[in-house]
This record gives sequence, C-alpha cells and structure tokens, in this order.
Amino acid sequence: MTAEPVATPTVLVVDFGAQYAQLIARRVREAHVYSEIVPHSISADELARRAPAALIFSGGPSSVHQDGAPSIDPAVYELGIPILGICYGAQLIARDLGGTVAKTGRGEYGRTGLEVHDHGALFGTVDHQQVWMSHFDTITEPPTGCVVTASSPDTPAAAFESVERKIFGVQYHPEVLHTPQGQDLLERFLYGPAGLAGSWTMENFIERTVEQIRAQVGSGRAICGLSGGVDSAVAAALVHRAIGHQLTCVFVDTGLMRKGEGEQVVETFRRHQGIELIHVQAADRFFGRLVGVTEPEQKRKIIGELFIRVFEDASGGIEDARFLVQGTLYPDVIESGTTHAAKIKSHHNVGGLPDDLEFDLVEPLRALFKDEVRAVGTQLGLPDEIVWRQPFPGPGLGVRIIGEVTRDKVALLQEADQIVRDELRAAGLERAIWQAFAVLPDIRAVGVMGDERTYGYPVIIRAVTSEDAMTADWARLPADVLEAMSSRIINEVRGINRVAYDITSKPPGTIEWE
Ligand code: XMP
Repeated sequence: MTAEPVATPTVLVVDFGAQYAQLIARRVREAHVYSEIVPHSISADELARRAPAALIFSGGPSSVHQDGAPSIDPAVYELGIPILGICYGAQLIARDLGGTVAKTGRGEYGRTGLEVHDHGALFGTVDHQQVWMSHFDTITEPPTGCVVTASSPDTPAAAFESVERKIFGVQYHPEVLHTPQGQDLLERFLYGPAGLAGSWTMENFIERTVEQIRAQVGSGRAICGLSGGVDSAVAAALVHRAIGHQLTCVFVDTGLMRKGEGEQVVETFRRHQGIELIHVQAADRFFGRLVGVTEPEQKRKIIGELFIRVFEDASGGIEDARFLVQGTLYPDVIESGTTHAAKIKSHHNVGGLPDDLEFDLVEPLRALFKDEVRAVGTQLGLPDEIVWRQPFPGPGLGVRIIGEVTRDKVALLQEADQIVRDELRAAGLERAIWQAFAVLPDIRAVGVMGDERTYGYPVIIRAVTSEDAMTADWARLPADVLEAMSSRIINEVRGINRVAYDITSKPPGTIEWE
C-alpha cells in the first residue's frame, strides 16, 4: 500500500474500513501535509519504522463491541506519536485506553449541534458549531487522563483530549464538507500537537520527483503511452521535465476519440512541450477489425487487444527503451490491494499497461490524488483542456455507439458529442459535472423537419455527477442547457432527428452504455 515517493513528515491515516479514509488523507494534503493510508492491521513496529509525525484513526462501519471488530496493535499507543481518532477511531481509543463506549440505542446521523466546553488544543475560539455525525455507539467516558472538550445532544464525550498523552478524539466527521469547521480542526491538530509545518506543495513535489526520476532512469530511455487523458499527460510532462529527449511518447490514434482530441494531443506534446512523439494513425486498423461486431464485450476485447498490438509495434521500434512511464495514481495503489466485486465490464486503459511488456515502470504520480495531479499539470504548463478533461473510457466512442461501429457513425457521434461539451462549457458547468457525453443507439426514429418526414438516429445525452465513478447520479442539468444541446444537435448534425436525456443513476445503470 505504500506509495512512492514518500515525503516526510507524514501523517498516516489508519483505515478502519470507512469510506472516509481517502477523504481524510485528501483533507490532510489540502492542509499541505503529506499523508498516506495504512491498514489497521499494521504493527506497532512497522509504524515505528515509518516514523510518522501523527496518526489519524478513521471511522468505520463496525461497533467496538462486535466480535472481530477492527482494532489496532495496543503497542501503538506507547509510541508517543500524536493520535487523532475520528468516529469509530475515537471510540476505539476510548475503549482501549480506559474510557467507556456505551450501546445507548441512540445514535446520531446527519447534522448535529456541538457544544464546546473547553477550547483545548483543537477548537480555537468556537463555542458552538454544526457537525456531521454518523454513529450508533456513544462515548460516555473519555479515556483515562483525557478531558471532555465538547458534547452533542446524545454524546456526552463528543470530543476529548489529553495534550500530555497526545491523544485526541472526535465523534463527528471533521473531514466532510457538512462539518463546515472540520478542516480548521484538522489543521489545528496538524500544526499544533502534531507539530507539522505544511510543506507539501506541488512545487516541492515536482522538484523532488524530477530528482527521483533522474536517479531511476539515469541515461536510459523511457517510453510513455499517451491516451489524451490527464494522468498519462501529466506523467509524460513530468518525466520530460526530468529527462528531456530520453523520453519518447507513443500516441495511438484509434479513430475512436472525441472530435479534435487526437490533434490536440499531438499539438500539445509536440509543439508546446517539445516532447518526442510517435503518432500512430491506426484508425483504419480499428475500423477494419470492428466490421460486423455488435456484442459489447467483444468490441471491448478487440479494441483492447489491438491497442496493445499497435502500441507494441510502435514502441518496439524505439531502441534501448527500458523504462515505461505509467500514470498510476494513489487511489489505484490503494485499491490494487483489494479484491473487486463482480466484473461488470472489462475495463482497459488505452495508453495503459500491457501486462507482459518487459519494462521497468516509472510511476511518478503514485503518491498523488487526482486533484493534485491536475495541480501538477497546470504547474507544468499543460492546457486546461487536458488538465480538466473528463474521464474517457479506454475503448472510446466504441462503447458509446450501440451496435456496429463504423466510421460514419463515429463522425456523427463526434459532432453531437462536441455540441454537448460546448454547451456544458458555455453554461459554466464543465467542472461540476463528472462526465457529459452523447450516445448513439442502434435504432431509428421518425420525425418531421420542414414539411418532410425524416427517419434518422436519436442521440442520447448522458450527464452524471459522481465522486469516483463507483456510484453516480444523473445530473439535473438546467432545462435551457438541455434545450440548447437538443436544438443545436438537431439543426447541426445531419442524420440525427431526436434527442433524449438519460435519467438513470448508477446503480442500477452504469455511466457508459456499453
Ligand atoms: P461505468 O460505465 O462502468 O464506468 O459506470 C465507470 C467509469 O469508468 C470509465 N470507463 C473506462 N475507463 N477504460 C477506462 O479507462 C475502460 O475500458 C472504461 N470503461 C468505462 C467510464 O467512462 C466511467 O468514468
């Protein structure tokens, strides 16, 4: 689970199975302190070896009273490292260190008022605040030697601390936006008892990572597959800053990208960044292989395999290439340790890793969250269109055209998709929406234009909000934005005579149609 490069000093967020551990780590980084997530099974010896400046125990879905509930090696409390427990983390500290966690039968969920009795080290001058609670057990007695600093209607010890023992706990969730002063509390903990200075900045990251890349690659040659997406683009720009012409990028143009996207990748990397780029125009090969293919998984398989073959052909021609640059991010590193639920779709990453290639990996973004990657991209001079590009599936428009994928259909969909994106941008909603795009189904509809009957394709607009693509909600786009999209598509894209809006969330739908 360790991400490289590890910066010090570090806060380790101990994960007790909450969906919140990543969020806590991100909030800590927003306070300019480097943080990583570790499992609660980590030993005290291992923690001592890593010598973090502080620990934060996350929330979790269990009860400390359950058999087999997640716990922590008790020797951790003897290390003298400042600890902040959040929700389940606070209950665990209370249970382990002589306090009481009661099953009162009165949990608190959602917005709750918090009364501060003692400002202590974490509350500044605030006496009353709104906080977000989500718990069923209740801390009724703080750990031995700790004072209660705040309470809520149903939690007598909603916050406790001992500056001397460096133990702190809050029953509520300071990391969520519904706790407006939560970030202040985290920062007081980090800059106060944890003694941190806030030196984690993207400038520092770039400087340090450039050094590390140079040390790893030496005088060797590296290659990087560009997909047009932000991760591979930022990874390439960063590696280029480190080793210049020792890097060659390979961009496989499948013909299945959005309108103008291929040209933009070439323009950005070749002209602006001066990066050596092999532009493989492979659209003919992809369309050739997709003739008559209608089954979604078969399409994905064909596109994925052909991509790897084309990439291998192109990179095989780069003499002495020993290193492969990958845009792996920290959430991928965390998640690669977990087993995933049933496979819904066979994902593949264009520009991604062909498993059996014999390269040493250079993964300069392994320690970063997405928002940090964007900040690095901007810092390195990449244009907003790339830095803020919405996620795009590896098989591209191939999974947004239902039925057989042909050159004509791709051209049609590209036009409609461009209008969806233009109007979203014009409405100032581009960054608020996780993904917005057009889908071309394999059906026809009757319409009337002028006095003529038409028989054309409908287009479906899909726009969703999401945090991580695991779940998504259909975006409540304003009616006038949908109207602008619809009338422009009908008027400007010949062959489309109807526009529908997909109002399915995920689950039960998926974001893509195939
Ligand atoms: P679904 O459709 O499963 O998509 O809800 C979840 C997210 O993943 C993107 N997606 C892909 N990304 N390779 C990728 O790199 C793929 O094959 C692929 N298929 C879907 C999708 O756009 C959404 O953001």
